[in-house]
Amino acid sequence: MLNEKVYKALNQQIEVEADSSAIYLAMASWCDKEGLAGCAQFFYAQSDEERMHMLKLVHYINEMDAHAIVPGLTAPKIDYPSIQDVFQIVYKQEKLVTESIHKIMDICNECNDHATIHFLQWYVAEQREEEAQVREILDKIRLIGSGGQSLYYIDKEIEKINKKRIAAEAEEEAAA
Ligand code: FEO
Repeated sequence: MLNEKVYKALNQQIEVEADSSAIYLAMASWCDKEGLAGCAQFFYAQSDEERMHMLKLVHYINEMDAHAIVPGLTAPKIDYPSIQDVFQIVYKQEKLVTESIHKIMDICNECNDHATIHFLQWYVAEQREEEAQVREILDKIRLIGSGGQSLYYIDKEIEKINKKRIAAEAEEEAAA
């Protein structure tokens, strides 16, 4: 059975992950419209990942004999000034998610909830990786600059990341 404070915090996290999934889906759609195929593919995959993060929480809460609450969606922004702005927003969103996970960890520590601490460790590692990836993308965007063909080169860089992700997923599947 989950402590009431932990239960409430985990349910709120479902909402944070669902919002992230919707935001990244809106970004994918915007990139598609702008002809940024690599970025669109990146965000479609990212949106799926956030949904998976949300589902893991739903299953965990229910497994702990509580009731996971599926939240209503917050409407995401549908238009963006530039791809540079998109990745800045992603970085802010990921930092917000990290902060939120760390707060739940604090609550779990207060409540001596070892099972949830163990469960959330996966999210702590995931957030560290996600923040590092977005920082790397922002560095590349800064290096590419805003010259005439910058969008082309940014999209190519993101395509490389997509290929790495697909290769890593295939490796994971083969190992399973
Ligand atoms: Fe599930 Fe990227 O936060």
